[in-house]
Amino acid sequence: TTPEMILVRTEGRVGVITLNRPKALNALNEQLMNELGAALKAFDADPEIGCMVITGSEKAFAAGADIGAMATYTFADVYVNDYITRNWETIRSVRKPVIAAVSGFALGGGCELAMMCDFIIAADNAKFGQPEIKLGIIPGAGGTQRLPRAVGKAKAMDLALTGRMMDALEAERAGLVSRVVPLDKLMDETLAAALTICGFSLPSVMAAKEAVNRAFESGLSDGVMFERRLFHALFATADQKEGMAAFVEKRAPVFTNT
Ligand code: HXC
Repeated sequence: TTPEMILVRTEGRVGVITLNRPKALNALNEQLMNELGAALKAFDADPEIGCMVITGSEKAFAAGADIGAMATYTFADVYVNDYITRNWETIRSVRKPVIAAVSGFALGGGCELAMMCDFIIAADNAKFGQPEIKLGIIPGAGGTQRLPRAVGKAKAMDLALTGRMMDALEAERAGLVSRVVPLDKLMDETLAAALTICGFSLPSVMAAKEAVNRAFESGLSDGVMFERRLFHALFATADQKEGMAAFVEKRAPVFTNT
C-alpha cells in the first residue's frame, strides 16, 4: 500500500523519508508512525541503501504526537493497548545510519523522533522543545532520557519543566544537533553527509553506529571492550584490506561491503 502521510524517495544510495502531513504540522499519529516504521524497515533491508534521512517541511519537522488523537484516551487505553507509544520503537531497530534533517518545529514527539535518529542536522530556523508539561503530561518517547544525555541535566530540566523552545544555535551549543546550516542548504548538506556515509564500507558504518550507541547503555570499561571486539572483527572484512591497501597505494578505495 502507498503511504499517505510520508513521501519516500531515494537519492543515490540514500533513502529519504519526508514526513508529509502539512495541515497538522506533521503531528505524529498512528498511521504516520506505522508508515515511517515500514519505510525505515524497507530501506534497512534494501542492499542498495546505505543510509537514511528523515525530514519534514520548512515549517515543521514534527510538532509532536497528535494531540487531537490523544485527547480522550484513558489510562487503560494507553497502558493496556499501548496507544501512542507502541509503534515508536521501530526506528531503534534500524541498523543503518538515520540522519534527521530538521527545519521548523521539532516539539514533543517530534523532538524525540529527531533524537532517536543517529544525528541531527538543523536548519537555522529549527526549534526544539518538550512542551508536554503544558498539556498535563510528560515526554513519552524517550525525551526525559535522551535529552539529558544530549544536553545535560540543566537544559533538559529547563526544557521539560518550562516547556520553552530552544532555537538551532542554542541546540548546537548544547550538543543536541551536530551542525546548523542555512534553511535553503539543509537538504544539500544532509544528503552530502548521507552520501559520504554511503561511500564507506557498510560493515564498518554499522559497527560505528552500534559502538557509539553502546556508550549510552554501558559503563566505560564495558563500552571500550565492546568497541575493541568490533574493531578486531572488522579486520576480518575484505573492506579493511581494501581501505588500507588503497591508502598505501595512494588511490581511492573500492568497498564491496564484504
Ligand atoms: C495535532 C497539531 C499539533 C499536534 C499543531 N497541530 N501541532 N495537531 N497535534 N501536536 C495543528 C494545529 O492544531 C493546527 O491545525 C495546525 O497544526 C497548525 O498549527 P497552529 O497552532 O495553527 O500553528 P502555529 O500558530 O504556527 O503554532 C505552531 C506550534 C503549535 C507552536 C507548533 O501548533 C503548537 O504548540 N503545537 C503543539 C505542540 C505540542 O504541544 N507538542 C507536544 C505534543 S505531546 P488547525 O486544524 O487548527 O489548522 C507529545 C507527546 C509525545 O508529543 C509522546 C510520544 C509517544
